[in-house]
Amino acid sequence: MNIQHEKILILDFGSQTTQLIARRIREQKVYCEIHPYTLSLDRIRELAPMGIVMSGGPASVCDDDAPVSDPGLYQLGVPVLGICYGAQLMTQQLGGRVEQAKKREFGKADLEILFRGGLFAGLETGARRYQVWMSHGDRIEECPADFEASSQSDHSPFAAIRHKKEPFVGVQFHPEVAHTLIGTDVLRNFIFGMCNCKPNWTMHSFVSTTVLAIRKMVGEDKVICALSGGVDSSVTAALVHRAIGDQLTCIYVNNGLMRTGETESILQFFREKTRLKVIDVDASEYFLKELEGIVDPEEKRKRIGYGFINIFEQEAAKLGNVKYLAQGTLYPDVIESVSFRGAAVIKSHHNVGGLPEVMKLDLIEPLRDLFKDEVRELGLELGLPEEAIYRQPFPGPGLGIRIMGEITAERLDVLRKADVIVLEDMKTSGYYRKVWQSFAVLLPIQTVGVMGDERTYENVIALRCVDSVDAMTADWSKLPYDLLGRISNRIINEVRGVNRVVFDISSKPPSTIEWE
Ligand code: XMP
Repeated sequence: MNIQHEKILILDFGSQTTQLIARRIREQKVYCEIHPYTLSLDRIRELAPMGIVMSGGPASVCDDDAPVSDPGLYQLGVPVLGICYGAQLMTQQLGGRVEQAKKREFGKADLEILFRGGLFAGLETGARRYQVWMSHGDRIEECPADFEASSQSDHSPFAAIRHKKEPFVGVQFHPEVAHTLIGTDVLRNFIFGMCNCKPNWTMHSFVSTTVLAIRKMVGEDKVICALSGGVDSSVTAALVHRAIGDQLTCIYVNNGLMRTGETESILQFFREKTRLKVIDVDASEYFLKELEGIVDPEEKRKRIGYGFINIFEQEAAKLGNVKYLAQGTLYPDVIESVSFRGAAVIKSHHNVGGLPEVMKLDLIEPLRDLFKDEVRELGLELGLPEEAIYRQPFPGPGLGIRIMGEITAERLDVLRKADVIVLEDMKTSGYYRKVWQSFAVLLPIQTVGVMGDERTYENVIALRCVDSVDAMTADWSKLPYDLLGRISNRIINEVRGVNRVVFDISSKPPSTIEWE
């Protein structure tokens, strides 16, 4: 599926905030893509960007092995914005001088604007200085020929630079972060003022172009989609259905590791509120058997993954002549970003990753250009109700990776009962939508307690609640004590077999969100 949008190209030099640059640009309704800084000039030409942003990064341009992009990009007649490392690289590549600063500039700084056009056009003129956020060890000491400083700060005589004739600009500060109060103005000036982009990247226009592309690609063939009830697969299914109607069949596999009532409510939702054709398969007994005696987290994940592929394949074979698999892969999963390169496999997220190879199906991934918040917006555009759009993420392996140790029907029952209470209280207190995820985990130990006059020796439930924007990093949620107290009391009083509740106060990294 090849859709051409007017775009800004972001060359990634490994900054933690590269994705943020992309999101800020898309918030302006302009499409952009992140690529590694090593992208060839030919590929850049093919992508035909309206403008190029060179991101920040942890390296120093003064190092011998500093990452450099092809200097030929300054010959393409395309506007270029360098941010932090990107600005220093532009300076060096075009003949200026960058040195290690005597004093590193980190955090908030005041910017004095020297040239009120270009990136700084249209700013409120009453102010003399503007707050920006800096994070750099090197600084520009001398700008290249035909460049000039367009702003300065106490520690950076060249806090921003501009070419006097060509559309090349650089900023030492980070316009993409919220602490840079004029960040949005700076990015808008670049994408609209200098690159002449139009704000036409909306979910409404995305639906019409994508629907046409899917129709063209699929023709008269059959498509299947694994439906989990999560946002990504629901939106994928709704979008593909909008394009090809009943040529799409969705398959929902109950792996027996779902929450209480979840399978029923998912199926009821799709059958009553959408026109999707959904086949449901109850494979809970099969999965429980496969997981018997397994305690190792990776082994659990693998067995659940293979089991899923197995069942899905059988169902697809019954349909016959299926050519495509629709999958809800998102943009953060496909960015070949410098920051993530070489990252170790922490957990094997299986989803339906193994399916296309096993089944020799072609993939339709209509969400692969979108961030999560855009997927939610798209879901609303497609008419999916808020309850489906704002569900917290739930992992493919389900409660299987929230039971530490062996998964048995009895232990699943204990966890399910505790989990219902967590969900109920998170919802009634209004915290369900404020946090990224909130759930119970069953620990593999028993502790001593006292109930009435009796000694007890029972299970421990851990409560895990995190705040996050993309699950790459997360912090534990600072829930009110009375809410924590209520959840704990209810679990201990209402769930037989539990006599202790603990609250997980670890952030990610170094911990992960799920316990396995
Ligand atoms: P971790 O535990 O790696 O989780 O910090 C990050 C996010 O991913 C979810 N998660 C999964 N989702 N299949 C999924 O579809 C999986 O195997 C899986 N494992 C973790 C997790 O709930 C969190 O939102």
